[in-house]
Amino acid sequence: MKVLAINSSARKNGNTALLINTVFKELNKEGIETEMIQLAGKIIEPCKACWACSGKKNCIHKNDIFQEIFEKMTQADGIILGSPVYTANISANMQAFLERASVVTDMNQDAKLFHHKVGAAVTAARRGGALNALDAMTHFFLLQEMFIVGSCYWPMAYGQMPGDVKNDEEGLNTMKTLGQNMAYLLKAIQKQVE
Ligand SMILES: Cc1cc2nc3c(=O)[nH]c(=O)nc-3n(C[C@H](O)[C@H](O)[C@H](O)COP(=O)(O)O)c2cc1C
Repeated sequence: MKVLAINSSARKNGNTALLINTVFKELNKEGIETEMIQLAGKIIEPCKACWACSGKKNCIHKNDIFQEIFEKMTQADGIILGSPVYTANISANMQAFLERASVVTDMNQDAKLFHHKVGAAVTAARRGGALNALDAMTHFFLLQEMFIVGSCYWPMAYGQMPGDVKNDEEGLNTMKTLGQNMAYLLKAIQKQVE
């Protein structure tokens, strides 16, 4: 089984990456393969509303790495969306990514591209807006017939400078529990399908 994480921070290996890696550690303990794609230094263009993705199962535009990431998402068993809080919401790259991903799945509903996959959202914030960011990412999963994983608190952690979230003990524990719950659900689904 494999879990793919998309980290939309403009900062490579920052707090969001650290949180995702905390979740990954628990997944790896259960033998689940993991991969993180970091969007730092890259620009994801927003949806052009051309509707040309109908019947194509991917966006037709090739000017960024959207197609490659979307393809990997369709192959993964679990998806983690990670964004730092920017202006009390998800980062612009995550918004652009989710716009396009949502339109592709909507225009290809019969393909059920993410049907019964497992989804989890995580966010890092200095102080305010974490729930908005989590809601925005969770809404994507809700549109995909996916199963959403919860934790012992909403999956957020506080920190400003890279590495600051290491001081948020509760936040890190929330990520650890999230990883354990994600592994549990993935394995339960696998058993059911076998
Ligand atoms: C453009 C921008 C906007 C931000 N807006 C907020 C905000 O509204 N609320 C907040 O708590 N933190 C805000 N932050 C701080 C980041 O969420 C915080 O530093 C976070 O730890 C960054 O995670 P990263 O290291 O993965 O990039 C903002 C940071 C940037 C660069």
